Amino acid sequence: MLETEIAGLGLKNPTILASGIMGSTGSSLKRIAVEGGAGALVTKSVGIEARGGHENPTVIEVPGGLLNAIGLSNPGVFEFEAEITGAKEGGVPVIASVFGFQVEEFVEVAAKLQEYGADAIELNLSCPNVKKAGTVFGKSPKLSRSVVENVKSRVSVPVIAKLTANTDDIVEVARACVEGGCDAITAINTIPAMKIDIHTRTPVLGNKTGGLSGPSIKPIALKCVYDIKKELDIPVIGCGGIATGEDALEFLMAGASAVEIGTAVRLRGIGVFGRVAGEIEAFMKENGYKSLNDVIGAAL
Ligand SMILES: Cc1cc2nc3c(=O)[nH]c(=O)nc-3n(C[C@H](O)[C@H](O)[C@H](O)COP(=O)(O)O)c2cc1C
Repeated sequence: MLETEIAGLGLKNPTILASGIMGSTGSSLKRIAVEGGAGALVTKSVGIEARGGHENPTVIEVPGGLLNAIGLSNPGVFEFEAEITGAKEGGVPVIASVFGFQVEEFVEVAAKLQEYGADAIELNLSCPNVKKAGTVFGKSPKLSRSVVENVKSRVSVPVIAKLTANTDDIVEVARACVEGGCDAITAINTIPAMKIDIHTRTPVLGNKTGGLSGPSIKPIALKCVYDIKKELDIPVIGCGGIATGEDALEFLMAGASAVEIGTAVRLRGIGVFGRVAGEIEAFMKENGYKSLNDVIGAAL
């Protein structure tokens, strides 16, 4: 009843672990699948070289969610083979998240992760392009398309473009990614935000500013998915503030084929995937839906 498909990947239920939450090691990824019940896993974003990340604090709680500025800390792709292998023991599709500061970096890292056994690649386009004065890839339809096109020409697994809402027109960026040949789109990443400690008169995050996630961004993410699905014929993964079956159903009805869950894992534990899937199923039974396909896009 809950089976779905995204970019050619078959999922037993539509819940997916979002990138950056418990996605750094093969063992924690496997746990999210086996104990948590997730239908698929996305790894923490991986780049070509090891990076230490920003100063602490890197994650803080704010009303309505989390603020994070991790700084893309990761061991570098050449140290990531065991994590992909370990994650695959979870028995569900493993989507490797890739970041880069230039197009060539995305391409090289994606090719390596495919070699290690990743079932699909998710491109984290919320990174600055060093060759274009730090313009964030995902703000520019042209830069986004270029990343997708180049990665597609190197890998054979499905390529998913993860977009940011922090752009003039997310539908135009999505359209450029579709033209570049992406197999699906994830919407959205965190939204730029900050907190200030009024007693010390300083920003609280080590990096001063960061990205907001959790319930406070859900209505924004939902509109992004709805707008993209109204205009484009491309599978979409909804992401942003999903913590309950009702949240997930809203995204599915807006046209998403699956949903990613991040902040709710940190706040509510790994059981959130099974719980959300169970709540979706209960709603479908109560309301006479036979398959998830009858729910997907119902509000479009
Ligand atoms: C602590 C933390 C780390 C994150 N790291 C990444 C990352 O490495 N790559 C990425 O594409 N998104 C990253 N994200 C963004 C999430 O994958 C997701 O897009 C965002 O948090 C919205 O979903 P949520 O409200 O369910 O958390 C991170 C989010 C959090 C909270």
